[in-house]
Amino acid sequence: MTKELTAIWQDLQAHQINTSSLNMRDQFQADPARFDKMHETLHGLLLDYSKNRISEETLDLLCRLADASGVKQQAEAMRRGDKINLSENRAVLHTALRLPVGSPAVYVDGESVLSDIHRELERALTFADSLLNGSHTGATGKRITDFVHIGIGGSDLGPQLAVQALQPYLQNIRVHFVSNSDDANIAQVLAPLNPETTVFCVASKSFGTPETLLNAQAARNWFCDRGLNEADIARHFTAISSNVEAARDFGITPEHVFAMFDFVGGRYSVWSAIGLPVMVAIGSARFRELLNGAHAMDEHFFHTDFRHNMPVLLALLGVWYGNFCNACGHAVVPYSHNLRRLPAYLKQLDMESNGKRRTLQGETVSWHTGGIVFGEEGVNGQHAFFQLLHQGTRLIPTDFIVPMRTPYNIGRQHRFTVANAFAQAEALMLGKTLDEARAELAGLPEAEREALAPHKEFPGNRPSNSILIDELNPFNLGMLLALYEHKIFVQGVIWNINPFDQWGVEYGKVLAKNIEPELEQTTELHHDASTNGLIGFYRRCTRDT
Ligand code: F6P
Repeated sequence: MTKELTAIWQDLQAHQINTSSLNMRDQFQADPARFDKMHETLHGLLLDYSKNRISEETLDLLCRLADASGVKQQAEAMRRGDKINLSENRAVLHTALRLPVGSPAVYVDGESVLSDIHRELERALTFADSLLNGSHTGATGKRITDFVHIGIGGSDLGPQLAVQALQPYLQNIRVHFVSNSDDANIAQVLAPLNPETTVFCVASKSFGTPETLLNAQAARNWFCDRGLNEADIARHFTAISSNVEAARDFGITPEHVFAMFDFVGGRYSVWSAIGLPVMVAIGSARFRELLNGAHAMDEHFFHTDFRHNMPVLLALLGVWYGNFCNACGHAVVPYSHNLRRLPAYLKQLDMESNGKRRTLQGETVSWHTGGIVFGEEGVNGQHAFFQLLHQGTRLIPTDFIVPMRTPYNIGRQHRFTVANAFAQAEALMLGKTLDEARAELAGLPEAEREALAPHKEFPGNRPSNSILIDELNPFNLGMLLALYEHKIFVQGVIWNINPFDQWGVEYGKVLAKNIEPELEQTTELHHDASTNGLIGFYRRCTRDT
């Protein structure tokens, strides 16, 4: 850490100690303009970050931290196509995926990449539209009614989230997802389908992920076992991969293999051909709106000063709580049934990106990096883990994500849901003092009141951000996802780690390769006693079945 950074870090530590008795309740009372000063808008999105344990001084210090960490320079390096993913020697260009045609060139290794990006995007969009308008039929001439996307992690979560989120925009093809190697997943998806009217898409950046290849093989067997043959695979199987050769070797016709690029990480790839299921679900025009929304957030991120920059502010608040206020996690609660996969998506985006303990220089960090991200759709989360957010001993800042309008308009349901989101954020901030709890129990005998009041006290001063969107449409979804992408990037820069590799997921994969054959054998086992015991139990349970 440079001297300057160490000094800012120490200033923030001292500031935390000096302001630890500050209460948001008092801050709101003292400054009626707090919301005006602490919210930002961009198109149909509003970020209210006023319900945080911060003052203008906190924000100044945090912006200094971002400055001294080189956030601006690193963001420029990313945008330019520099190889900022050092451990994999790769550029990081998900922002280039949403650049409009005609944008200034972006170079990797001296080669301009925009024309390749736009060519593959067009190919995928055209293919999606050909399914939707019926010009691409199945091998027996029938119209395609179902699209099965097979992928995992970044090749699944983004598309699945977007297809669910944009449910009101769905067209005439049902889109299904298979990710888990547990056969219940593929069995349940395939059961109601007709191979003559189904198109499969094998999505794997590496085309080497065993779960995906296993499911792809199962889909292929299912297809061929139902009266269609190998030659028909050409019209029914597509692939998305940066390993185009391997996809072709699997038997997928080159015309239906869509390329990914090694300068886009899996969890940042929904904007690429990996978005094919989204294109099939909502059509090419709507998919372009999704890209435009993400691009609008990119422009905001690259060109807005830190004090008003939404991804930077969210990142700094996360650093403030995680590194200075001892927060143990971060909750994400979309008050939208259609956004119910957002927590799952953000778990991968955030924890696979910033769950690192080595600096870019390979040293062990002496500060905390990424925390635990979890969540659930509101209002359901309220009836599950909100108790801990309100009265538990741990500090867990929360993001409330709330669309203002609903396309469904059933009774007062939406208004009720929005009211609950606002109320939870208010309750977390305000809390309820012991005296207020006592006053509520005024009708009870004193002994009973005194016994009950402590249980009804809420500490309050619990932070949250509210991210409101005027409606859940493709453009706003694009802005929302890009907002979190850039937040995570900024935190990675401040922590001096690489958010774009994922070596930590490899080790278990290798061990699984050794264990799988052992499950079928009777040979002596040489693992630790626990693993031996688990394998032994499997062998006993499956011996006679
Ligand atoms: O195991 C983790 C991971 O490598 C993720 O980073 C990635 O999104 C997922 O596996 C799937 O990888 P692929 O797209 O190469 O199949």
